[in-house]
Amino acid sequence: MTIAVCPGSFDPVTLGHLDVIRRACAMFDGVVVAVAHNSTKQSLLPADLRVDLARAALAGVDGVRVELVTGLLTDFCRDVGATVVVKGLRGGADFDHEQPMALMNRHLSGVETVFVVGDPALAHVASSLVKDVARHGGPIGDLVPDGVEAVVREALGIPPAHEKE
Ligand code: PNS
Repeated sequence: MTIAVCPGSFDPVTLGHLDVIRRACAMFDGVVVAVAHNSTKQSLLPADLRVDLARAALAGVDGVRVELVTGLLTDFCRDVGATVVVKGLRGGADFDHEQPMALMNRHLSGVETVFVVGDPALAHVASSLVKDVARHGGPIGDLVPDGVEAVVREALGIPPAHEKE
Protein backbone atom coordinates (compact mmCIF):
# COMPACT_ATOMS: atom_id res chain seq x y z
CA MET A 1 0.00 0.00 0.00
CA THR A 2 1.80 3.15 -1.18
CA ILE A 3 0.41 6.53 -0.20
CA ALA A 4 1.44 9.64 -2.13
CA VAL A 5 1.13 13.26 -1.11
CA CYS A 6 0.40 15.96 -3.69
CA PRO A 7 1.51 19.19 -2.01
CA GLY A 8 1.06 22.77 -3.07
CA SER A 9 -0.27 26.12 -2.06
CA PHE A 10 -3.33 25.71 -4.32
CA ASP A 11 -4.00 29.44 -4.35
CA PRO A 12 -6.32 28.62 -6.07
CA VAL A 13 -6.61 25.00 -7.23
CA THR A 14 -6.51 24.84 -11.05
CA LEU A 15 -7.29 22.32 -13.78
CA GLY A 16 -3.53 21.74 -13.97
CA HIS A 17 -3.48 20.61 -10.35
CA LEU A 18 -6.45 18.29 -10.95
CA ASP A 19 -4.66 16.68 -13.92
CA VAL A 20 -1.62 15.86 -11.76
CA ILE A 21 -3.72 14.66 -8.80
CA ARG A 22 -5.81 12.37 -11.01
CA ARG A 23 -2.66 10.87 -12.49
CA ALA A 24 -1.26 10.33 -9.01
CA CYS A 25 -4.48 8.54 -8.08
CA ALA A 26 -3.95 6.17 -11.01
CA MET A 27 -0.41 5.32 -9.84
CA PHE A 28 -0.75 5.03 -6.05
CA ASP A 29 -3.08 3.27 -3.60
CA GLY A 30 -4.06 6.51 -1.88
CA VAL A 31 -3.41 10.20 -2.44
CA VAL A 32 -3.45 12.98 0.12
CA VAL A 33 -3.60 16.48 -1.31
CA ALA A 34 -1.63 18.67 1.08
CA VAL A 35 -2.59 22.34 1.11
CA ALA A 36 0.49 23.98 2.56
CA HIS A 37 2.01 27.38 3.23
CA ASN A 38 4.71 28.55 0.84
CA SER A 39 6.75 31.04 2.83
CA THR A 40 8.05 32.62 -0.40
CA LYS A 41 4.53 33.60 -1.51
CA GLN A 42 1.77 35.82 -0.16
CA SER A 43 -1.52 33.90 -0.49
CA LEU A 44 -4.64 35.52 -1.92
CA LEU A 45 -7.01 32.99 -0.34
CA PRO A 46 -6.97 31.87 3.31
CA ALA A 47 -5.80 28.31 3.87
CA ASP A 48 -9.19 26.92 4.92
CA LEU A 49 -10.78 28.29 1.75
CA ARG A 50 -8.03 26.76 -0.38
CA VAL A 51 -8.76 23.43 1.31
CA ASP A 52 -12.53 23.78 0.74
CA LEU A 53 -12.08 24.58 -2.96
CA ALA A 54 -9.75 21.61 -3.48
CA ARG A 55 -12.16 19.31 -1.61
CA ALA A 56 -15.09 20.45 -3.75
CA ALA A 57 -13.07 20.00 -6.95
CA LEU A 58 -12.07 16.45 -5.96
CA ALA A 59 -15.41 15.30 -4.59
CA GLY A 60 -16.19 12.01 -6.28
CA VAL A 61 -12.57 11.14 -7.08
CA ASP A 62 -11.85 7.81 -5.39
CA GLY A 63 -8.85 7.35 -3.12
CA VAL A 64 -8.07 11.01 -2.53
CA ARG A 65 -8.49 13.33 0.40
CA VAL A 66 -7.47 16.94 1.05
CA GLU A 67 -5.75 18.10 4.24
CA LEU A 68 -4.19 21.29 5.56
CA VAL A 69 -0.47 21.24 6.37
CA THR A 70 0.68 23.67 9.02
CA GLY A 71 4.27 22.49 9.52
CA LEU A 72 6.93 20.71 7.53
CA LEU A 73 5.74 18.69 4.58
CA THR A 74 8.00 15.80 5.59
CA ASP A 75 6.35 15.63 9.03
CA PHE A 76 2.96 15.58 7.34
CA CYS A 77 4.09 12.75 5.02
CA ARG A 78 5.23 10.73 8.04
CA ASP A 79 1.94 11.37 9.86
CA VAL A 80 -0.21 10.16 6.94
CA GLY A 81 2.11 7.25 6.10
CA ALA A 82 3.18 8.63 2.72
CA THR A 83 6.52 7.60 1.22
CA VAL A 84 6.16 9.54 -2.03
CA VAL A 85 5.55 13.16 -2.98
CA VAL A 86 4.04 13.79 -6.42
CA LYS A 87 4.52 17.09 -8.23
CA GLY A 88 3.65 18.20 -11.75
CA LEU A 89 6.14 19.73 -14.16
CA ARG A 90 4.98 22.09 -16.90
CA GLY A 91 8.52 22.67 -18.12
CA GLY A 92 12.12 23.24 -17.17
CA ALA A 93 11.41 26.25 -14.96
CA ASP A 94 9.18 24.07 -12.80
CA PHE A 95 11.95 21.51 -12.47
CA ASP A 96 14.41 24.21 -11.38
CA HIS A 97 11.90 25.31 -8.73
CA GLU A 98 11.05 21.79 -7.57
CA GLN A 99 14.45 20.12 -7.53
CA PRO A 100 15.79 21.84 -4.36
CA MET A 101 12.54 21.08 -2.51
CA ALA A 102 12.67 17.44 -3.59
CA LEU A 103 16.28 17.16 -2.43
CA MET A 104 15.54 18.92 0.87
CA ASN A 105 12.55 16.68 1.57
CA ARG A 106 14.63 13.58 0.85
CA HIS A 107 17.41 14.95 3.07
CA LEU A 108 14.94 15.55 5.91
CA SER A 109 13.10 12.24 5.88
CA GLY A 110 14.01 10.06 2.90
CA VAL A 111 10.70 10.77 1.15
CA GLU A 112 11.03 10.45 -2.63
CA THR A 113 9.54 12.91 -5.12
CA VAL A 114 7.98 11.64 -8.35
CA PHE A 115 7.49 14.17 -11.13
CA VAL A 116 4.55 13.92 -13.50
CA VAL A 117 4.78 15.76 -16.81
CA GLY A 118 1.72 17.94 -17.01
CA ASP A 119 -0.74 17.85 -19.90
CA PRO A 120 0.67 20.23 -22.56
CA ALA A 121 -2.83 21.62 -23.07
CA LEU A 122 -2.57 22.98 -19.51
CA ALA A 123 1.08 24.12 -19.65
CA HIS A 124 0.03 27.78 -19.32
CA VAL A 125 -2.18 27.17 -16.30
CA ALA A 126 -0.51 28.42 -13.12
CA SER A 127 -2.26 29.78 -10.02
CA SER A 128 -0.18 32.96 -10.23
CA LEU A 129 -1.17 33.61 -13.86
CA VAL A 130 -4.80 32.74 -13.17
CA LYS A 131 -4.90 35.36 -10.40
CA ASP A 132 -3.21 37.93 -12.61
CA VAL A 133 -5.72 37.38 -15.42
CA ALA A 134 -8.61 37.67 -12.94
CA ARG A 135 -7.07 40.74 -11.30
CA HIS A 136 -7.17 42.50 -14.65
CA GLY A 137 -10.77 41.50 -15.35
CA GLY A 138 -10.05 38.54 -17.63
CA PRO A 139 -11.96 35.23 -17.69
CA ILE A 140 -10.53 32.24 -15.78
CA GLY A 141 -13.56 29.95 -15.72
CA ASP A 142 -12.02 27.50 -18.18
CA LEU A 143 -8.75 27.29 -16.21
CA VAL A 144 -10.13 26.40 -12.77
CA PRO A 145 -12.74 23.98 -11.37
CA ASP A 146 -16.37 25.08 -11.06
CA GLY A 147 -16.94 27.72 -8.41
CA VAL A 148 -13.33 28.84 -8.12
CA GLU A 149 -13.60 31.82 -10.47
CA ALA A 150 -16.29 33.45 -8.31
CA VAL A 151 -14.24 32.96 -5.13
CA VAL A 152 -11.11 34.41 -6.71
CA ARG A 153 -13.01 37.39 -8.07
CA GLU A 154 -14.58 38.05 -4.68
CA ALA A 155 -11.16 37.87 -2.98
CA LEU A 156 -9.82 40.36 -5.51
CA GLY A 157 -12.83 42.66 -5.15
CA ILE A 158 -13.77 42.18 -8.82
CA PRO A 159 -17.52 42.01 -9.63
CA PRO A 160 -18.91 38.60 -10.71
CA ALA A 161 -18.54 37.93 -14.46
CA HIS A 162 -22.30 38.22 -15.16
CA GLU A 163 -22.39 41.72 -13.60
CA LYS A 164 -19.64 43.03 -15.87
CA GLU A 165 -21.69 44.13 -18.87
O1 PNS B 1 2.51 25.17 -5.02
P1 PNS B 1 3.81 25.60 -4.40
O2 PNS B 1 3.68 26.98 -3.80
O3 PNS B 1 4.99 25.48 -5.34
O4 PNS B 1 4.09 24.55 -3.20
C1 PNS B 1 5.21 24.70 -2.35
C2 PNS B 1 4.94 23.98 -1.02
C3 PNS B 1 3.73 24.58 -0.34
C4 PNS B 1 4.68 22.51 -1.32
C5 PNS B 1 6.21 24.11 -0.13
O5 PNS B 1 6.45 25.48 0.14
C6 PNS B 1 6.08 23.32 1.19
O6 PNS B 1 6.30 22.14 1.20
N1 PNS B 1 5.67 24.01 2.28
C7 PNS B 1 5.49 23.39 3.59
C8 PNS B 1 6.65 23.74 4.55
C9 PNS B 1 7.89 22.94 4.18
O7 PNS B 1 7.94 21.72 4.32
N2 PNS B 1 8.91 23.64 3.67
C10 PNS B 1 10.15 23.04 3.20
C11 PNS B 1 10.00 22.65 1.74
S1 PNS B 1 11.48 21.89 1.10
